[in-house]
Amino acid sequence: MRTPIFLSRHVFLVLIVSLVSVLGTGCSEDPALATGIDVYSKYCVTCHQADGAGIPGAFPTLQDTEWVNGDKGRLIRLVLRGMQGPIEVKGESFSNVMIPHDFLSDVQVAAVITFVRQGFSNNSDEVTEDEVMRVRSSLTGKGLFMASELKFRTGIPELEVETE
Ligand code: HEC
Repeated sequence: MRTPIFLSRHVFLVLIVSLVSVLGTGCSEDPALATGIDVYSKYCVTCHQADGAGIPGAFPTLQDTEWVNGDKGRLIRLVLRGMQGPIEVKGESFSNVMIPHDFLSDVQVAAVITFVRQGFSNNSDEVTEDEVMRVRSSLTGKGLFMASELKFRTGIPELEVETE
């Protein structure tokens, strides 16, 4: 009996430690949060880093920025379709490329955006699967957004309801 108890405690500890190290704040059993952490650590962390601070001169910070905490529709468009061209984030200029993430599901996009909006010392409201679905279904064309254009692409479109 001893070994399994030790093992399960060990596994539990490792889980806690890895959650704490990603979040920097604490741990939670919330499944949406777990999905958010999972997506972030697979698809965002290489550029924006584990603490969300980015890399000066290359990748902008996600801490307390207008893009993260501002309009949700714009943020969803950015994550789905990517962005290029000059932007200024907290006084620092970037002109680089963020790749599209439209291969992620609505649930994954909602979870990672909510994680980013509520982690890294941000404190904004969540983004739902429904909001991601509505923005995704409104997107036409392909290719990255120009930052100068995306800046003004705000809001979550209504779904057109067909009536008889
Ligand atoms: C390949 C590197 C890369 C990856 C991966 C990446 N980004 Fe970005 N991200 C960038 C760059 C570069 C910019 C700035 C683009 C520009 O200069 O126009 C940016 C900009 C942003 C911005 C707007 C500026 C700011 O800092 O507030 C947000 C928000 C953002 N990324 C979130 C994410 C999220 C969420 C993910 C994962 C789903 C992600 N990024 C994945 C490189 C990346």
